[in-house]
Amino acid sequence: VPPHEQRMLKAHELLGKFYHHLLMNTNEGAGALDYVTSRGMAVESIRKFQIGYSLPEWDIAVKYLKQHGFSEGEMEQAGLIIKRENGEGYFDRFRNRLMFPLTDMKGNIVAFSARSLSEDDHPKYLNTPETPIFNKSSLLYNYYAARSEVRKQGFALLFEGFADVISADHAGVKNGTAVMGTSLTDKHIHLLRRLTDSVTICFDSDHAGIEAAYRAGLLLIQHGMETKVAMLPQGLDPDDYIQKYGAEKFRSDVVGNALAWTAFKLQYLRLDKNLQNEGERLKYIEEVMKELSTLGNPVERDLYTRQVAEEFSLSLEVLQDQLEKLVASQR
Ligand code: UTP
Ligand code: MN
Ligand code: MN
Ligand code: MN
Ligand code: MN
Repeated sequence: VPPHEQRMLKAHELLGKFYHHLLMNTNEGAGALDYVTSRGMAVESIRKFQIGYSLPEWDIAVKYLKQHGFSEGEMEQAGLIIKRENGEGYFDRFRNRLMFPLTDMKGNIVAFSARSLSEDDHPKYLNTPETPIFNKSSLLYNYYAARSEVRKQGFALLFEGFADVISADHAGVKNGTAVMGTSLTDKHIHLLRRLTDSVTICFDSDHAGIEAAYRAGLLLIQHGMETKVAMLPQGLDPDDYIQKYGAEKFRSDVVGNALAWTAFKLQYLRLDKNLQNEGERLKYIEEVMKELSTLGNPVERDLYTRQVAEEFSLSLEVLQDQLEKLVASQR
């Protein structure tokens, strides 16, 4: 690691500790601490994930890091402070926000994601921009801490956000990582593959989350990963679910019932369709048969064909005929 990057890591380490101290031990941090605990986050989690609070003032980080020997140029390069428009002086990037440190694959803090504490303070999460030590599309939240659990359990859970990782961790599900609202990339997959060849996607159960799960799954499959999708009731994210139904149910009903990729895809294909409508039902069955015809495993093909026949009261022979034609046409 080049010396100037080493210094950036040091600045993050110091600031991370400082933010955490402000949250845990100061009057100024009491409101933010109320906010996290009222969301159901446990104190052990706040400690483990070193969650912090940045004060509303404009130049706390500037002053704090100066005291520790850092130049403003260094802080700016690290994404921690911003140059004023009129060119005079700098101000803190993160103010009056809940601070989530982001660690690289060695466990060093390389960036922050900062959550607003009120509905009308946008964006909801403000992130460190690209810097020499931080690239959003190649970092998985909690990767470092989850490594050994992923290896032990033989699969990684992939969430959309921090809150999900932290709730799951507290619920005893410690093999969770998260793409931070971005799409899954090749780089993320290469990181995961160092630990496992099996990933269970558990994204938010809203339109954006389901679409993102589908795209992430396609990429994982392309990379030859065993891919499952854990589904949640409409509108919830994993954090919401755990708060509402508890750890046990999350482990058994959500993670334990994760769908194999093909089963998820069949669910996905019916999302925008009204299957009461005959035309849409036929279209759905056609899409499913096309999908099944691409499966390499004949047993899997047979299993799902029987399911479709049963669900829609169709003749199994007719479906099998159609499937064979589709398979033949692809040769
Ligand atoms: P969500 O909107 O699902 O947030 O975005 P969340 O994790 O459920 O957060 P809470 O529960 O409202 O606090 C998922 C992830 O997308 C990224 C964050 O990493 C977030 O965890 N994101 C979201 C951003 O980077 N910026 C945003 O403005 C919103
Ligand atoms: Mn690749
Ligand atoms: Mn979401
Ligand atoms: Mn969410
Ligand atoms: Mn949430």
